[in-house]
Amino acid sequence: MFILKIPTAKVFEPLLAPARYKGVYGGRGSGKSHFFGELLVETCQAERGTLAVCIREAQRTLAQSSKRLIESKIASLGVGSGFKLYSDKIEAPGDGLVIFRGLQDHTAESIKSLEGFRIAWIDEAQTLSARSLALLRPTIRANNSELGASWNPRRKSDAIDDFLRARKPPGAIVISANWRDNPWFPAVLEEERRADLSLYADRYDHIWEGDYVRAFEGAYFAEMLSQARAQGRIGKVSADPLLPLRAFINIGGSGATADAFTIWIVQWVGTEIRVRDYYEAVGLVLAFHVNWLRSRGYRLFEPKSCWAWPNTLYWRKCIK
Ligand SMILES: Nc1ncnc2c1ncn2[C@@H]1O[C@H](COP(=O)(O)OP(=O)(O)OP(=O)(O)O)[C@@H](O)[C@H]1O
Ligand SMILES: [Mg+2]
Repeated sequence: MFILKIPTAKVFEPLLAPARYKGVYGGRGSGKSHFFGELLVETCQAERGTLAVCIREAQRTLAQSSKRLIESKIASLGVGSGFKLYSDKIEAPGDGLVIFRGLQDHTAESIKSLEGFRIAWIDEAQTLSARSLALLRPTIRANNSELGASWNPRRKSDAIDDFLRARKPPGAIVISANWRDNPWFPAVLEEERRADLSLYADRYDHIWEGDYVRAFEGAYFAEMLSQARAQGRIGKVSADPLLPLRAFINIGGSGATADAFTIWIVQWVGTEIRVRDYYEAVGLVLAFHVNWLRSRGYRLFEPKSCWAWPNTLYWRKCIK
């Protein structure tokens, strides 16, 4: 009997169970691509006749695909005898097939060629457009078919983040993995990581910790926020029901291209300024912003005490 032994990082264990949707998001070098590559080869080896497609949003040449990674996994797992490598595809045991496609140029008609494929894996899925995702989902329709996605998050509104994190279909298994979860994290990437941490602190959290792009490079506070996080100064703080809440407002207009209207709700406790809540909206009229305050239970009040600052709006939250 042939026994295939594949050491897998603990973080990926939940993804070994069957599921229609499987997602891994995280920063650079977390082992996302290697994990999905191995899972795909394992599935093709274990289930004869598996049809699998490796997807990118844009793939002009096969060099931009996951083909080399899949080939290296076939070799390193020692299953080469069951697979046949061609310039544009890989034949798998029992008439199985692995192909590589870019979705960008597909139409509603041409994507039909992928019907019947049981495994689809989208790497670099942060670049997947909403259109491509909408075309792909109903196309992968074979019995027990699985759609996997691995990506480095950019924005909450990116199609894959919106689908697998914000909405999250029932039964989807979605995990976050970062460099520290990768037992094979190579020394060269560790050097890169440390260099970024010291030289480009403002983009470090996005690149290496899988955070959304929160600030443009050079934004005033990005570096200070990264430091605060690295030093463990960001966490959950409790509300003091006796102290007032202050609302700091950065006023933005109501036009579509106006700056964001932002509100920070803070409480001053001893020597600390505790930021308790935050709101941001673009292109909405004042009533929406006031409604947000009301919906969170904040009520305007006029303090009579000596500590009250002039020209300051004080808010009280009724804590139930
Ligand atoms: N299962 C594994 N076996 C051997 N090496 C691995 C494995 N998983 C990860 N590695 C090592 O860790 C490195 C990073 O893994 P991988 O490229 O899969 O990360 P990633 O999360 O896809 O990174 P990126 O965000 O840059 O695409 C690989 O180049 C490889 O050296
Ligand atoms: Mg990768």
